[in-house]
Amino acid sequence: MTLPSEHSLSDLLELPHTAAASSLSELQKLIDDERARCGSVISIPVAQLSEAQADDVRVRFTGRKSPLQDWLRSLRNFPAEERKEAGAKINQLKAFLEVEVEKFVLECRAAAEKAKLEREKVDLSLPLPELAMGSRHPVSVAAQQLLEPLRRLGFTVIDGPELEREFYNFEALNIPAEHPAREMQDTFFVASQWVLRTHTSSVQAHAMLERGVPLRVACAGFTYRNELDLTHVPTFRQIECLVVDKGITLAHMRSTLDAFFAEVFGRPVKLRLRSSYFPFTEPSAEIDVQCQQCFGEGCRSCKHTGWLEMGGCGLVNVRVLESCGIDSKVYSGFAFGMGVDRIAMSKFGIADLRSLYEGDVLMSRHLALR
Ligand code: PHE
Repeated sequence: MTLPSEHSLSDLLELPHTAAASSLSELQKLIDDERARCGSVISIPVAQLSEAQADDVRVRFTGRKSPLQDWLRSLRNFPAEERKEAGAKINQLKAFLEVEVEKFVLECRAAAEKAKLEREKVDLSLPLPELAMGSRHPVSVAAQQLLEPLRRLGFTVIDGPELEREFYNFEALNIPAEHPAREMQDTFFVASQWVLRTHTSSVQAHAMLERGVPLRVACAGFTYRNELDLTHVPTFRQIECLVVDKGITLAHMRSTLDAFFAEVFGRPVKLRLRSSYFPFTEPSAEIDVQCQQCFGEGCRSCKHTGWLEMGGCGLVNVRVLESCGIDSKVYSGFAFGMGVDRIAMSKFGIADLRSLYEGDVLMSRHLALR
């Protein structure tokens, strides 16, 4: 039997008009009709019914409102001597319906599942959908991109610990305990003599003490300071360069900075060195880069100054050279250190530092692809 339309199934599931019988022969007729009706339903090819329709079939034949229940209730209308036989007939029908209908419903389910799998069958020859993958953080990308030009300029890229001895972070860099310069960097003290490095300059001390001269090293990595406001976050990244050799002067530093920024931005950019103070360099300067959004006109990104402060630089203080075992009468050096976030913001045209830490994957992805 096939099912011509939705209509026929609902016809078959209609409840019989007679809800009760009062004699064995009447009951037999109802039972035969019900059996026949059930037979018609379960001979419908299972693939033609949805799971919901299969459930309707179950409810109709074995549910609480099925005729079976009415008939069991109407047993009391039977003469006492027929009651037992009538009850037995109804129970027989009940057992039959339960087994057959359950079998049918399970088959319907299996057919529906099979059809679903068939519909969802994977065609291995189809092109792959674009995967919504994350990407590296723009600042990570920037840090790597910044090291590239330095490699080309002949710098060796090195690493240093983020959990640092106070000695490398401070003393070796001419910042003794109690020196007011310690106030410049709000430090996370981890344990006695141990800090989270407040700058990558600590790697300078490692390089001088562990590698000796001549030196031309660069590093990039996380640095930590106990500060949090609109323009400062406690974890940020710096990039640091150190050159120590015979006859190194400010001219070498300036030309290295010019070459570095030209490569970073893909064109020559204007730099400004502003006299400043760092305990580990003498003389010292702040490095300003002309704002690459407005080219000096003044805009939101540069707070209308036309310049962006990127970091500090200077000639390595002779005290630092000496405390790292380098003869300052023979050798001199320069160093610079900068915030990678700042350079990334300028390079990628990001106006708000906070957007780097909001975890917006789409934005990261967009920037990383640029
Ligand atoms: N370490 C300094 C800072 O974090 C930057 C700097 C590095 C200055 C190297 C001079 C030389 O502010």
